[in-house]
This record gives sequence, structure tokens and C-alpha cells, in this order.
Amino acid sequence: CGIVGYIGNIDSKEILLKGLEKLEYRGYDSAGIAVKNENGVHVFKEKGRIADLRAIVDLDVMANIGIGHTRWATHGVPSQVNSHPHQSASGRFTLVHNGVIENYDLLKREYLTDVSFVSETDTEVIVQMIELFVQDGLEVVEAFRKTLTLIHGSYALALLDARDNETIYVAKNKSPLLVGLGDGFNVVASDAMAMLQVTDQYVELMDKEIVIVTKDEVTIQNLNGEVINRSPYKAELDASDIEKGTYPHYMLKEIDEQPLVMRKIIQTYQNEHGELTIDREIIDALNEADRLYIIAAGTSYHAGLVGKQFIEKMAKIPVEVHISSEFGYNMPLLSEKPLFIFISQSGETADSRAVLVNVKEMGYPTLTITNVPGSTLSREADFTLLLHAGPEIAVASTKAYTAQIAVLSILAEVTARSRGLKVGFDLVKELGIVANAMEVLCDSKELIEQIAREFLSVTRNCFFIGRGIDFYVGLEGALKLKEISYIQAEGFAGGELKHGTIALIEEGTPVIALATQESVNLSIRGNVKEVVARGANPCIISMKGLNHDEDSFVIPEVNELLTPLISVIPLQILAYYAALHRDCDVDKPRNLAKSVTVE
Ligand code: G6P
Repeated sequence: CGIVGYIGNIDSKEILLKGLEKLEYRGYDSAGIAVKNENGVHVFKEKGRIADLRAIVDLDVMANIGIGHTRWATHGVPSQVNSHPHQSASGRFTLVHNGVIENYDLLKREYLTDVSFVSETDTEVIVQMIELFVQDGLEVVEAFRKTLTLIHGSYALALLDARDNETIYVAKNKSPLLVGLGDGFNVVASDAMAMLQVTDQYVELMDKEIVIVTKDEVTIQNLNGEVINRSPYKAELDASDIEKGTYPHYMLKEIDEQPLVMRKIIQTYQNEHGELTIDREIIDALNEADRLYIIAAGTSYHAGLVGKQFIEKMAKIPVEVHISSEFGYNMPLLSEKPLFIFISQSGETADSRAVLVNVKEMGYPTLTITNVPGSTLSREADFTLLLHAGPEIAVASTKAYTAQIAVLSILAEVTARSRGLKVGFDLVKELGIVANAMEVLCDSKELIEQIAREFLSVTRNCFFIGRGIDFYVGLEGALKLKEISYIQAEGFAGGELKHGTIALIEEGTPVIALATQESVNLSIRGNVKEVVARGANPCIISMKGLNHDEDSFVIPEVNELLTPLISVIPLQILAYYAALHRDCDVDKPRNLAKSVTVE
């Protein structure tokens, strides 16, 4: 979910709505705003997208204070009633919340047995408790503080009091939240991108802080009421980067940006002698570790699997790759000197952040690889490497995945060199070849669209197979396809399919096979024969030099280790067209959010 707030001299509705549009990547089940003027608080909320909310907002209500929310449902189905803002029983307090309150049921039973609840959300408990404590005689800020000491879980909160024309009360724990500073106004946002339209000056909030925001002042306090001074920083985002231009979808734009991003990465990570370089401190930390633990979710996890190959093959350091939501609850036996690498496009994924907090407490060094400078995972880790991919808006990640892989290859190469190991090729040159190959692939959309029609237009499922590094790309290809086209898709190691899953192959089932590795070229083709013998419709995507006559698509030749950077592109484009042909919402697929800020 994402939250926004505005307090100032002009009408707040448009600022809040525009802000929420920028935060839709965090969830788009339902949305709402509450604005306050001399007549009281006016709440508008609706199931669906911000566009649906826009349609019901009464333009005649003018109000200089407001808060807003876009939701990715956790407690309670997406509905008008469960959408935020939520109000206390008397209507005096109005609240928006991003996060999850773990003990809400307990609190409800302990404090709120007399209150009748309107929604199924954990959030409503917070706003009812604030009202209860105010009725018991506490000042609003005291009631807010008392509530915060009782709730367990994650939250970014913004609260309005119907009897106060001057203040938005704000608090944060685990969920990201920033206060933006303006001249005669101030704003609140989950992400600087939301309020870039009005300011680029932001103050970062730490866990368990309260902020009292008026139009001229921002006062940060800890839960003991002690005032904290913190300087603002300038958000370095170019607002034009977040427009889609002439493209019909962000996903297509972001696929096409990949060659550019590759070149940007090569350039940014090069020193004046043309050598790839990474901060000495980071490389020293890697060299001091006896094992690296890559922690990530979704597409970033798939990039981590490829990264492990790079680091182990080039720098000879053992690497484990873990899904963050699993690692947190089931920590493996760690080596003596681990170093943790967090891979996250957004830098906000709560599952990954939970592990970061945990391993930091254990005293281990941490590195975040992210696309978003100043994001939570970046701020909180010891070191950061940036992806320089520009904002990624489509929910299905494309350019961030290839950027993650490119940065991991650079990390592996620079570490290898620092250890006196030879990688056997010039990575700058090879990444340049990759960028050119990406361009060729981005220009082959028509052919890939035809393949999508031929293989994916009527099917209900699809399998991706590959061996070695191709297997990992297959996992990502399957994730792309299921995320946006809702075709059930699974990635398998070529040799493993026959141990069970082959039972699912029927007449015409599409099986997309990747063949980019010489050592397994014939064996993956053997696996294709096994499925064809059982009726599958095979689509082989091979690399030039390894291709056979029957292949459906041939990608240009690049260094064998770097093939994931290009073999994934036809899979991204396939997923795009499969979704388009099925009339799916490519950029905002159902049930998903770009950045999941709850555990
Ligand atoms: C969400 C998105 C996925 C993404 C994952 C990890 O679930 O829907 O596309 O891969 O989060 O996100 P991150 O920002 O940490 O890379």
C-alpha cells in the first residue's frame, strides 16, 4: 500500500490524487482520500484503481488538508468498506495505514469490545484506540503515542483530527515513510516519487518516530516525546523518467530501455582507465567473507540465482541464494564469516527488509543492490550498489532484472581481479556486445509476437525448460508469463521434468526450451524430444552457433556466462504479447503489487 498527505494553502485533492497515481505500483485494489475544511472531514473511497476514485471525488469540496491511500489488501477483501481512510466511531479521527498490525485482534478484545467495527481491517483498530484514549482524557498526540506503544507490527500512518485544522499526525515503524518540505506547505509520502510534483526536499523517518506536520513546521519526536532534528535531503529523480511517452505500456518501454541501461551501467561502473570498478570497501568486505548469502524475492531472486553462478565461477567465493520470506523464519546454519547481499528493485520489499534487520542485529556486513537510491534497504545496509535503470513502473520487472544481473557480473569480475583471478574475458567488451544484442532482440518484436500467437493464444499452461543458467532464465520466463497473462507457467530443469511433471504434458502443451549453453545443448534437445513424444508443442530458443533447423527463435551470440541478459528478452516480449492478446492489464496485473511492503 502507499500513503500520501498534504497540508498547505491550496486545495489538496489533485495533489493527493496525483500522488496516489504515482504510488499505484504499491497496490491498486482500492483507494481513498480524506480532506478537511471548515465543514469537517470528507472521505471519498472506492474499490478499484485511482481512476475509479477520481470519478467519485466531489470537485466542489475545497480543502487544504488531506490524506490518501492506495491499497494492496492484507486483512479483508478489496472493497469500498475495507478501503482506507478509516474513521473512528464518532467520526472525529480519520486514518490511512500501510503495514500490518499483528496483534489487532487481541487489542480489539482488550480495549474495544464496546465498539462496533465497520470494516474487516487491522487499521480500524488503530483509529478506534486513538479515539478511546482521547475520550479517556488524553491529548491527541498522547493518545496517538499510547496507541503506538500498544500496537505490534508494521505501519506508516497519517491521521487527521476533525477538530484540528492545523495538523497531520504521522508515524512509522518498518513501513517506509517520508515527509516532504515545501514553502508554506508540507507533505507526507511512502515514496518521494509521489510528491516530486510539489517538492524535492525530503526528511527521512526512522522506525518508531512520530511527526507532527503543520503547513509551516515538521516536528519529529521519538515515542518518549523527545524532539529529533534531522536535515532534509534532495530526491534525485527526474519526473520525466516516470512518464510512458508514446508507448502503450510501461512494460514495453522498459523492455526497450534495456540496451540503454546496459550502456549506462558499463559507463557508471568504469573508472578513467576504462576498467570496471566498485568501492574498495565493498570488495574488501566480500573478500573478508567466507560465504555470501543472497537474499531476495520474486524476479530479484531469479537474478540472484544467476549472480551466484557469476560469483562462484569468477571470484570463487561460495554463494547461497535464499528467498527472503523463507530465510527470515528458517535460517540455515551460517558460515563463520557471512556477508549478506540483498537484491531488490524497489529496495522496499518487507520480506527482505526483515532479514536485513535481523542479520544486522547479528552483526554481519550487508550490501544492497537496488534500483532506488535512498530506499529503505539501501539506507539500512552497510553498502549499496545502484542499478541505474531509471524508475521501473510496470509491475512485471524487466530492465531491473537485467540490470541486477549486469551489476552482479561486475561485482564478480572486480572481486575476482582483486583476488588475482583471471576471468578469461574482457567484461566491458562483452557487456557492450550484450547491449548490441539486446537492441537486435528489441527490434524482433514482430517475430516474437507471432510466436506468442502460435504457442500461447489458446493454451492454459506452458512449461519452460533449460539446463544450468538457462534453467534460471526459464524460471524468470515462467514468472513473467504467469504474472501478466495468467497462463499457468512453470520453469523446470530440463532433466527434472521427467521426474513427475511430465505427467502434465498433453497434446499441444507448449514447452519453451532454452539452448544457449554448448555443454548441455544436446541434452536439452534430448529433453525436448521426450516431451514432443508425449504431444508437446516445442518452441526452442537457441543461441547463434548452437542453433538447429527446427528452432523457433535464435538469439545473437554473446559470452556464454552472460546469456541470461539476452535470452530473457524474447521471454519478456512473449509474456507481453501473450498478455496483450488476452486483453490483460499488462502494467497492473490482478492481485499483484510492484513493491510489497508487508511481510
Ligand atoms: C513483488 C513484485 C515482483 C518482484 C518482487 C520483489 O512481488 O510483484 O515483481 O519481483 O516483489 O521486489 P523487489 O522490489 O524486492 O525486487
